[in-house]
Amino acid sequence: MLRVDVIIGMQHGDEGKGKVTHYLLSKGPYTHCVRYNGGCNAGHTIYHEGQKFVTHHIPAGVFFGVKSIIGPGCVVDIHKFFDEVKMLRDAGVDILDKIYIAKNAHIILEHHRESDSEEIKLGTTRTGNGPCYGDKYTRNGRRAENFPILQPYIIDMYEEFYIRNPNAEVLCEGAQGAELDIDWGDYPYVTSSHCTVAGACLNGFPPTSVRSVIGVAKAYETYVGSKEFQPPDDVFSKLQEIGQEYGATTGRKRQCNWVNLSNLDRIVKMNGVTSLVFNKIDILEELGVWCMYVDRGSHNMFILQSRDQFCEYIRDYFDGVEVIFSGSPEKI
Ligand code: IMP
Ligand code: MG
Repeated sequence: MLRVDVIIGMQHGDEGKGKVTHYLLSKGPYTHCVRYNGGCNAGHTIYHEGQKFVTHHIPAGVFFGVKSIIGPGCVVDIHKFFDEVKMLRDAGVDILDKIYIAKNAHIILEHHRESDSEEIKLGTTRTGNGPCYGDKYTRNGRRAENFPILQPYIIDMYEEFYIRNPNAEVLCEGAQGAELDIDWGDYPYVTSSHCTVAGACLNGFPPTSVRSVIGVAKAYETYVGSKEFQPPDDVFSKLQEIGQEYGATTGRKRQCNWVNLSNLDRIVKMNGVTSLVFNKIDILEELGVWCMYVDRGSHNMFILQSRDQFCEYIRDYFDGVEVIFSGSPEKI
């Protein structure tokens, strides 16, 4: 029977999903790793055997010899894809017969990148992501299967999971985060894909195949884009500096704020999150300030006295969900 675990971003991306994916792959029984949404707007920072990698397209399964598929919910920049293949090969990662692109994934073309560059209003990553999804939905897009150069990498999801490997164990790796989801994020300050557990199912996995949903959050929030997000208080500039909050794709400064538990609770409920990982707890420790919001919208700040109190409050708040805190960029 097909089994699927799904990793979703709980905030605005950059929660450390790459690290969690990498960790689960190192422990788990997975036969496949599937990226289910987004394109090269994403930047996943992964530490593998002491080496730092930033990937945009290729799922982390490749580091463990697990078949890694860029799913049909994704959009692909062919140049960046081949750059990444080369980067991995040069670093000695064995990628032979490990990297695939779903035949029905869409391809980011030159005019997508060009028109995205004009889109300064939202502060997009200018990678052609939105215009490519736009063409997909107006039925003007081009699918991966139509490009001869991609032929060695093309895969049919139905054949792979229902004919050849009906007992596959799949780790679905999300990009961005639920607060950037096209339907559930703060529209129009969103990305153009589905960043939720449903987004993973859209890649050909029935809801009944989903075993666990691992939500990845940061112990504070960050956002990259045009809307005002960071409150005017120096403590957030300090947090930004200590946390080295710069975009992995664009190098832009990430705006910072405290974690919001009510916002997270909404995402937990709407996605059936079973485990919740809070990353970068070490950054708050260095900052020495333990704050959170517990009220969606009103933004009433809640101050705690110590790391233990902060973690205990969060654990109690998400009763019934496995809650894990991590304070290392390389492990959980
Ligand atoms: P787009 O996805 O490039 O269209 O950008 C739309 C919004 O999503 C912008 O605010 C981007 O900064 C944000 N965004 C897209 N991908 C990521 C990501 O991987 N991490 C953080 N923010 C992202
Ligand atoms: Mg990122």
